[in-house]
Amino acid sequence: MGNTVNRRFSLYRLCVFFFFIGLRFVFGDVSYSVAEEMKRGSVIGNIGKDLGLGIATLSSRKARIDTDGNDKRYSDINLSTGDLIVTERIDRESLCGKKATCILKEELVLENPLELHRISIHVQDINDNAPLFSEDLISFEITESADKGARFLLTDAHDADVGTNTVQRYSLQNNEHFTINVATEGSGRKHSELVLVKELDREHENELKLLLTALDGGSPQRSGTAIIHVTVLDANDNAPVFSQAVYKTSLPENSPVDTPVVTVSATDADTGANGDITYSFDHTSDDHVSLFSLDHKTGEIRVIGSIDYESERSIEMRIRAKDGPGLTSFCTVLLDVTDVNDNPPAISLKSLTNPIPENVSPGTEVGIINVQDRDSENNRQVRCSIQENVPFKLVPSIKNYYSLVTTGQLDRELVSDYNITISATDEGSPPLSSSKTVQLSVADINDNPPVFEEQSYSAYVTENNKPGSTLCSVTARDPDWRQNGTVIYSLLAGEVNGAPVSSYLSVNGDTGVIHAVRSFDFEQFRSFKVHVMARDNGSPPLSSNVTVSVFISDVNDNSPQILYPAPEGNSFMTELVPKAAHGGSLVSKVMRWTRTPDRTPGCPII
Ligand SMILES: *[C@@H]1O[C@H](CO)[C@@H](O)[C@H](O)[C@H]1NC(C)=O
Ligand SMILES: *[C@@H]1O[C@H](CO)[C@@H](O)[C@H](O)[C@H]1NC(C)=O
Ligand SMILES: *[C@@H]1O[C@H](CO)[C@@H](O)[C@H](O)[C@H]1NC(C)=O
Repeated sequence: MGNTVNRRFSLYRLCVFFFFIGLRFVFGDVSYSVAEEMKRGSVIGNIGKDLGLGIATLSSRKARIDTDGNDKRYSDINLSTGDLIVTERIDRESLCGKKATCILKEELVLENPLELHRISIHVQDINDNAPLFSEDLISFEITESADKGARFLLTDAHDADVGTNTVQRYSLQNNEHFTINVATEGSGRKHSELVLVKELDREHENELKLLLTALDGGSPQRSGTAIIHVTVLDANDNAPVFSQAVYKTSLPENSPVDTPVVTVSATDADTGANGDITYSFDHTSDDHVSLFSLDHKTGEIRVIGSIDYESERSIEMRIRAKDGPGLTSFCTVLLDVTDVNDNPPAISLKSLTNPIPENVSPGTEVGIINVQDRDSENNRQVRCSIQENVPFKLVPSIKNYYSLVTTGQLDRELVSDYNITISATDEGSPPLSSSKTVQLSVADINDNPPVFEEQSYSAYVTENNKPGSTLCSVTARDPDWRQNGTVIYSLLAGEVNGAPVSSYLSVNGDTGVIHAVRSFDFEQFRSFKVHVMARDNGSPPLSSNVTVSVFISDVNDNSPQILYPAPEGNSFMTELVPKAAHGGSLVSKVMRWTRTPDRTPGCPII
């Protein structure tokens, strides 16, 4: 606080002097320089010495400091030292504001004679005010899409001081996005602005708080701060992102409608509509759209159709996520359909020898059967079985083929048709089964000769029969089929009494009825035997023969006579026993008829 005394004899002072001389006595001006805010009692300068007035003079002439009008008196004179001292707080800013020079005008008044000296006190600025921002918080809303180099005007800080004690520069807290730039307008007015040097990213940082400092040029330097608060506004600069590029899951076939399958999820770093996601199928293959529903908001996929493992073992779907303005991304859902035992085995007859001859040897293959199960793994493992009590078995062959093979001798005459039931059961849980009936006929082989119903036949005929009369009939049966079982009867060649049998008897080839060819004479011969053959029509034919005995009985065709020796050619029988026969003598053989002799057609057994 140097206070210098300037005696000035400038033109200005002379003019003032001459202006006042008419009113009062004015001897001269003194001027001081003093820093503001000096303590009360601080010495501004020794005005006594400066005006050449001794201490005694000052007292005797009642020296005092005066101001114009009501102006406050900032200084006074110490009469015992002649010092001009500070009496009131001198605040340059309240006295002069932003004026570059600040002068307090006072007067030293002396009496006897009245004498007046103007005192100019130059108040010097000290850096007693810090820069001050009008608000502590400077808010900006800047979109993240703002380009590098964008500028944002800042409100200035104010400093009540003047000159270099006012705001000289600004500094911004170190950060990567903004710098501060002080621009000078045409008028010379300076203003500061934020300059974007690196683009903002709301998704990374949605707000920034930067400390802005205004610094003055005083010594010591003073500063003021404000917080710059930047709210980063969203731009749709992010596409939705799925939590997984591929969602893998599995689903049992036949899952009921509404079964949840998987939920895809995408996030969008943007906010509001920019981050609002809707899901949809990417309609590349429309057939899956009928199988699944997709919740557009939640991304949940559910079953709406029938899922069939056998028609599709894995399903691939593309799902799209779209945000409000339309940025999209895709994910893939890979669905493994798992098998459920929903298909029974299918039995098919690939070939069948039908009918099969009854003489095939055991182990002959008569058919080939194929068994398929459309399911997988255990669900397609099939066991095949055949019903019991049939002379057939299944022999596993390559893959899922089976041979149907005979296990024993067949006999058409016993069983001519088989309904063979084949069952197939898979190993699923629960197992499924199916069955198929194979109809098989046994073809005939001529393996049975005709067989006569009786071991031998006897025919009884009374003599003198009419030629052509029926003697009896023979019957042979052959269980073979058609011609193999068709029986033809015939007489085997032979002689009776030197004549061929055919001159005595004939046999109806179809019916087996035996007729007499001639009339028999009991008296000529009483019995004879023929052989009848039964032959089937097979190729080669089979045959058998049977003996037919013909007994001729007597009728009373001769006059009564001695029976023994019998006369020839008599056929009438009257009394067989003579009246006077001796007791015990052989009279004759007496035949006793058990039945009427000329009954037909059967031949009674002897
Ligand atoms: C076999 O099945 C058919 C048709 O079902 C039937 O008519 C026939 O009598 C059956 N045969 C046997 C030997 O069971
Ligand atoms: C009779 O048997 C023979 C074999 O001995 C056979 O070839 C033929 O087909 C059979 N006839 C009929 C009608 O079954
Ligand atoms: C008649 O049958 C018997 C026994 O069945 C046989 O021994 C004989 O050879 C057969 N005769 C003819 C001619 O077939």
